[in-house]
Amino acid sequence: MLPGPTNVPDRIRYAMIKAMVNHRSETFTRTLRSVTEKSRALFQTEGDPLVLTSSGSGGVEAAVWNIVRPGDKVIVLVSGEFGARLAETVELAGGEVTRVSSEPGTVPSIESVEEAVRKAQGVKSVFVVHNETSGGTAVPYIERLASLAADVGAFFVVDAISSLGGYALPVDRWGIDICVTGSQKCLAAPPGLALLSVSRKATDLIRKNPPRVRYFDLGRQMDFLTHGETPFTPAVSLYYALEEALSWLVEEGLENRVQRHALHARQLYSMLDAMDLKPLADPKVRSNTVIAAWYPQGVDDKVFRKKLSDEQDIVVGAGVGSLKGKVFRIGSMGDVSSTHVNRTASAMSLTFQKMGYSVDWNRVAAALAA
Ligand SMILES: Cc1ncc(COP(=O)(O)O)c(C=O)c1O
Repeated sequence: MLPGPTNVPDRIRYAMIKAMVNHRSETFTRTLRSVTEKSRALFQTEGDPLVLTSSGSGGVEAAVWNIVRPGDKVIVLVSGEFGARLAETVELAGGEVTRVSSEPGTVPSIESVEEAVRKAQGVKSVFVVHNETSGGTAVPYIERLASLAADVGAFFVVDAISSLGGYALPVDRWGIDICVTGSQKCLAAPPGLALLSVSRKATDLIRKNPPRVRYFDLGRQMDFLTHGETPFTPAVSLYYALEEALSWLVEEGLENRVQRHALHARQLYSMLDAMDLKPLADPKVRSNTVIAAWYPQGVDDKVFRKKLSDEQDIVVGAGVGSLKGKVFRIGSMGDVSSTHVNRTASAMSLTFQKMGYSVDWNRVAAALAA
């Protein structure tokens, strides 16, 4: 129950044992074409999403370096660790960043973003982490941000690494220029691949004014994809897994998957409530994929997570940055069912009980049954 990497179902795990092939062969081209085709359903796009052999951060770095040029005015929303990293990455690429920040557990108001865009004048791009994995919050106004950026002629880029699939972000309809996700979250594939959608407008920029990078040059990636190849040696086995993971997504249907994530998030928040534990996130912006909660007084983070793992076989995430030791984070992404939720609830109840924090199991069970 980590906020990534998440459980990898057998059908996806076994897909990786297929024979290794020449990545410049028709066999690999078939895999690549199938991955491209199926990932259209994930991004809800008519375009050709790209897959990079890199973790999610590589996808974010690619988005930044392909969109930002030195001296560009860039607005970055920051409400936690991943927003902070995003802002720093934009600065490394030479962007002049205005951060629109909020406390962990909250997201900046749309009005504060509008004001920042107005004040900065001549904003070239707006960057946001949709789902802040460190605080368990999701920005509820992505579509409005997209039109805000479009109104001032700015590019709009979304880090949806810990949300896409658990949430729907229809990139074409909403006007998201680059949307990035990772293989190891809601797709339930192993870590190691980043997926990106790139709009026509962003493609034009990349063609006219190529980024000063090689591996992450998205124009080069597009050129090779036209011939059914990748510019550099891809992690072939991970592509096998991704193809299977996307097949599962297509079979389940994006909308059903989104509803499944919402249902289990609701159950997990009810479970916390029945344990008298407080979620970190403001109720209006609670994430459906990362459930972060404050520890009860007297429960030590390291001891709790170790006992939960060693004795109950349930792994949850620690707090990051300033929240280390104060909160725990449950990932509810990808291959999560009611069985996982119920097992997590009973395991946590037992562990808290053993550590001297009393939980009323009847209340927890009633919350799960509701
Ligand atoms: C929102 C967000 N952005 C970026 C990353 C970085 O992804 P990776 O660890 O795959 O490089 C993560 C990882 O958890 C994330 O949750």
